[in-house]
Amino acid sequence: MKEYNNLLFTVEDGIGVLTINRPKSLNALNSETLAEIGSALSEIKTNKDVKVLIITGSGQKAFVAGADISQMAAMNPIEAAELSELAHNAFQTIESLPQMTIAAVNGYCLGGGFELANSCDIRIAASTAKFGQPEVGLGIVPGFGGTQRLTRLVGRGKAKEIITTGAQITATEAKEIGAVEEVVELDQLMTKVNEIASKIIKNGPVAVRMAKYVIDKGADLELNTAISFETQMWAQTFATEDQKEGMAAFLEKRHAKFSGK
Ligand code: HXC
Repeated sequence: MKEYNNLLFTVEDGIGVLTINRPKSLNALNSETLAEIGSALSEIKTNKDVKVLIITGSGQKAFVAGADISQMAAMNPIEAAELSELAHNAFQTIESLPQMTIAAVNGYCLGGGFELANSCDIRIAASTAKFGQPEVGLGIVPGFGGTQRLTRLVGRGKAKEIITTGAQITATEAKEIGAVEEVVELDQLMTKVNEIASKIIKNGPVAVRMAKYVIDKGADLELNTAISFETQMWAQTFATEDQKEGMAAFLEKRHAKFSGK
């Protein structure tokens, strides 16, 4: 992995951890950081050592407190569009990664931070985390996908309430509306996300990749089309070595040794 000014990256036992590292500004996303995230993800995409990717923020206070307001304050519409494009490029790359991604939300998860978390496959939050889309209070609308991904996650009414009030919600409230999957104590956060990542890694790699793909692609289709898409994907798994191994292991009462082929 290249050296980045605003990111840290580690890999251990198949689990990659990408940390947004600007703690002095609560990990706010400026254009350099967004470009670095895009570039790091392109590296991670083809890194076979990374089987699951965790995205988190540096320090104990913030996951990401939004786009960098000090940079946005003087922007014109063209520069705003360029910033939004950098974010879309990074966040769409997260969604298209073959690896499962988990947002470990360790604190403030606001604006562009919430939008980043919502691009991940799974969100686990510390009980101290706070979520919100405060953009309207700054005179702008969410511009990193917030009006779209949050709406798909929690429904139109809740998304409109969160976005138009700009109010923060707690991690527990975020869980109640389906914006996060689990809430744990801050000191247990990385243990919990590592536990989930390890469970994913034990399963057939092709099947995990395909499950992510079919869930995401199917969500944009009408149900009958989505069901036949699932059937095609399901049938294809029977052409994999992982399917032979997974079922043989069950019948032979042993743990499967998947090859990912
Ligand atoms: C730049 C930020 C920042 C941000 C915090 N900081 N958030 N800098 N951009 N989004 C900086 C502060 O200026 C301060 O720097 C330092 O981080 C610590 O923050 P404090 O405000 O002193 O901390 P605290 O009082 O604890 O308040 C925490 C907070 C607050 C509630 C999270 O910082 C806050 O409201 N931040 C802004 C949140 C926000 O509006 N996000 C949405 C941005 S718009 P100094 O130098 O003073 O120590 C967005 C749009 C995306 O994300 C789409 C655009 C296209």
